[in-house]
Amino acid sequence: MGKDVIIALDFKNGQEALAFLDRFTGRKLYVKVGMELYYAEGPSIIQEIKKRGHKLFLDLKLHDIPNTVEKAMAVLSRLDVDMVNLHAAGTIEMMKAALRGLTRADGTRPLLMAVTQLTSTSQERMTEELLIREKIDDVVIKYAENADIAGLDGVVCSPLEAGKIHDVCGTDFLTVTPGVRFDEASKGDQVRVTTPAKAKELGSDYIVVGRPITQAKDPIAAYDRCVKEFVEV
Ligand code: C5P
Repeated sequence: MGKDVIIALDFKNGQEALAFLDRFTGRKLYVKVGMELYYAEGPSIIQEIKKRGHKLFLDLKLHDIPNTVEKAMAVLSRLDVDMVNLHAAGTIEMMKAALRGLTRADGTRPLLMAVTQLTSTSQERMTEELLIREKIDDVVIKYAENADIAGLDGVVCSPLEAGKIHDVCGTDFLTVTPGVRFDEASKGDQVRVTTPAKAKELGSDYIVVGRPITQAKDPIAAYDRCVKEFVEV
């Protein structure tokens, strides 16, 4: 599977997102639409982006009973998205149901990724509030293994976890990694960051890059720099 740079389209409405995309004249991109933009605009924003020929990761992180997730995934699959995700905490049964829902009549389906533990969840909170007493790194690996057993394509994780996940789940099991910055000084609210080049070295399959591209003075140059460091070198 080829490596790719996914641009996080964290804009508050469709007009801003499409104006940003239209600056990349003639380029076919891979973009991520999250809850804010999707809940603001609904399925029409997906159709607009796909109409322009871009690939799309719909980041809605589903987590519900298996039957509900299966049916919701069938709806998302009909939107012709390329990648979707869910919470591995929903159990192997929920993940298998999601795969069934996603699979179209012709056998094709979007890639399905699992979120293990959110990076905003600390060891302390996981232990004290969720009563999960194992080490957070072990929980992340266990949830990745569960996703692999369920037949999912990979996980969303830190680039720093990508190597270990590939060791346990195999190199074909994909790692989609946010937390990318060009340098340590610009990390903002991300705690642990890596450069695109470092993410490649650590074995990430896709990097998700938001503000370093969307807030750059020259977003096209910033995107090209990610591609050069992560895909081409
Ligand atoms: O702007 P920035 O590059 O930090 O954006 C990263 C994107 O990846 C955001 O859409 C954020 O919600 C998402 N993300 C993340 N960390 C995770 C999971 C998703 O930053 N663990």
